[in-house]
Parts: sequence; C-alpha cells; structure tokens
Amino acid sequence: MRLLTIESSCDETSAAVVQDGEKVLSNVIASQEAVHALYGGVVPEIASRKHLEVVLPVIEEALSRASVTLEGIEGVAVTQGPGLAGALLVGISVAKALAYARNLPLVGIHHIEGHLFAVFLEKQVAFPFVALVVSGGHTHLYQVDGFGIYKTLGQTRDDAAGEAFDKVAKILGLPYPGGALIDKLASRGDPNSIRLPRPLLHDGSHNFSFSGLKTAVLQFVRKNPASAEGVALHDLCASFQAAVCEVLVEKTRAALRDTGIERLVVAGGVACNSGLRQGMNDLARQTGTELFIPSPLLCTDNAAMLAVSADFYLRSGLRSGLQLDAKTVWSLDSLAERVQG
Ligand code: KG4
Ligand code: ZN
Repeated sequence: MRLLTIESSCDETSAAVVQDGEKVLSNVIASQEAVHALYGGVVPEIASRKHLEVVLPVIEEALSRASVTLEGIEGVAVTQGPGLAGALLVGISVAKALAYARNLPLVGIHHIEGHLFAVFLEKQVAFPFVALVVSGGHTHLYQVDGFGIYKTLGQTRDDAAGEAFDKVAKILGLPYPGGALIDKLASRGDPNSIRLPRPLLHDGSHNFSFSGLKTAVLQFVRKNPASAEGVALHDLCASFQAAVCEVLVEKTRAALRDTGIERLVVAGGVACNSGLRQGMNDLARQTGTELFIPSPLLCTDNAAMLAVSADFYLRSGLRSGLQLDAKTVWSLDSLAERVQG
C-alpha cells in the first residue's frame, strides 16, 4: 500500500510517500524554526499561518520526489494529535480534502505513535519492546506490546527533556530551539566540571522531573555569570547534558529490568543527542539489550514516521472518516480501542 502522510502538529510541515509502511519514497520537511527563533519559542498563530502557506507545495514536492502522482496514492494518513490545534487542523483539512476528492482511505495517527515506530523505516523491531520517547513535549517510557497496545511505565511530572534543553539554552542566551546547539557546545566541555542535580534518580519510580534541574542551572549562572561565556559555557553545557542523560539512561535501565524486556527503542528529537545515544549504547552493551535509535532525520518531526502504524491500521480495515478532528490532548493508552475486537 502506497501512502501519502502529512504532519503539521508543531513547527514542521512535512509530507511523505511511503510504500508498505517501510520503504520511504520521499520525506519532505519544511521547518519554521527560523521564524519562531525570533520569538524564543513556537508562536501557535504564526505556526498555523506558515503551515497554510507551505502545506500544498510540500505535498507536491513529496509526490514529485517519489515520482508518483495522486493517482498512485492508495491511502492518506495525518497527525491527528496531540499538538497545536490550529497547526494540526491545517494538515487534517488537506488530508481530508485529498481523501474525499480521490476516494482514498484516511487514518488519523497519534504523533507519539509516529515517533515510536520511526525506526521501523530502517529496521524491524520485534514486540514487545521498551520505548523512551524524548521530544519537546514528551518524556515517556512505554512498554509496546504491538500496534495500538501501549502501557505507560513513566513520564515527566513537569518539563519534557527537550523543553529542558530549550529552556536552559534560553537561560544561556542561545537561540531557539537550543537542544542541538547545547549538544554541540557540550562536545568540547567537561561533563564533570559542575555538579548539577539528577532529579528523581533514586525515587524508585519510572517518572522524570526536569524543572528543578533547569532552575539549578539558572541559579548557577546567576551566581557565576562568567560560566555562560567562552570556554566555561562548554563545561556548563556538558554538565547539564550529562545530568539529563544520566537520569534518562538510569530510568530506562530500571524499566528494562522491571519489565524483563531486552529490546529498547529511543525516539523523538532528543534522541539526536550525542550524549544520550552514547549513554544508551553503553546501557545496551552492559545489559545485553538490543538497541534501536532512528537516524537523526527520523528522530525529529517528520511525516514518514506516521506511515508505519498507518499502514497497519489501514490494512486492518480501520478508517477515520471525514469527521476526523484534531485532538490537542490525546492519551496514547486510549489507542487500544483501535485494535480491540
Ligand atoms: O520530536 P521533535 O522534533 O518535536 C516534538 O515533537 O517536540 O523534538 C524537538 C526537540 C526540541 O526540544 C529540540 O531542542 C530537541 O528535540 N533536540 C535536541 C537535539 N536535537 C533536537 N535536544 C538535545 N540534543 C540534540 N542534539
Ligand atoms: Zn515530535
């Protein structure tokens, strides 16, 4: 089945053509990062307008790069939520119009479900697996038993990991979104130079908390203004990154131990982070776990990642219908309804 997929939940407009839920024929991503950087974060109203401007050219580009026309498309999938209402609605409206005009099956996909299965576009993973999803909006540990069958093992109580990276970058005067830049600066710093807290590391739960760590960085910078400049900035970035990664790795270690599962998927934008990739590789080696992390382009928001579960759902006969509406808040656990019965 050859699917056209559309993602517009936040500040990336993306369209992809994917064959049989595994072969990416095209994956076009138009990022609005530069526009939102002017405001230090995503401005929802501007995001919606930008999506509107580029969504059709992005779809045309995806079809053209895949060397197909709409006649060659057999189904449409779109991010239904969670995300910004106005942004989601742009992708959903176009997806519905295309499905209606060409009489194609349509399915709405959960954004995090997209991230969970992005790695399947590069390598098949057997069920069950433990998944750590770390993005701008999520820090969640799941047990994944099959498509639609997700059990939340733990989640952040406050800021998401990506959010912590972006907020600390802001404190340090770096442009939005600062995660990738902190990663780059950290590569030339000493991760043991500044001792920062490891929140909830030993609380026995699978939950996370990053807001206190962000405040600790803020207080440190206020007391030591020179730490946010020159060579010292590298040390501060490396120390912050080490604190986040240690918590993510140790909580994941506990989840693997408690579930007895020996397969791990790490996904979402923060899975691009070199410290986290290294830490997860070490964890996998130490515990004999099979580790799957997508290439960086498939870690951050993109439309191709929607195709894996969309292909499964459409082949199972699931259709969203034209009443499909944006779900700004949507629990992943509720997707079980789709596969029951
Ligand atoms: O998955 P994603 O593209 O969008 C959301 O669904 O949120 O993730 C974006 C997040 C941002 O917070 C960004 O700063 C972070 O991923 N990120 C990184 C890196 N690359 C992207 N954080 C740390 N290190 C990186 N290399
Ligand atoms: Zn995302």
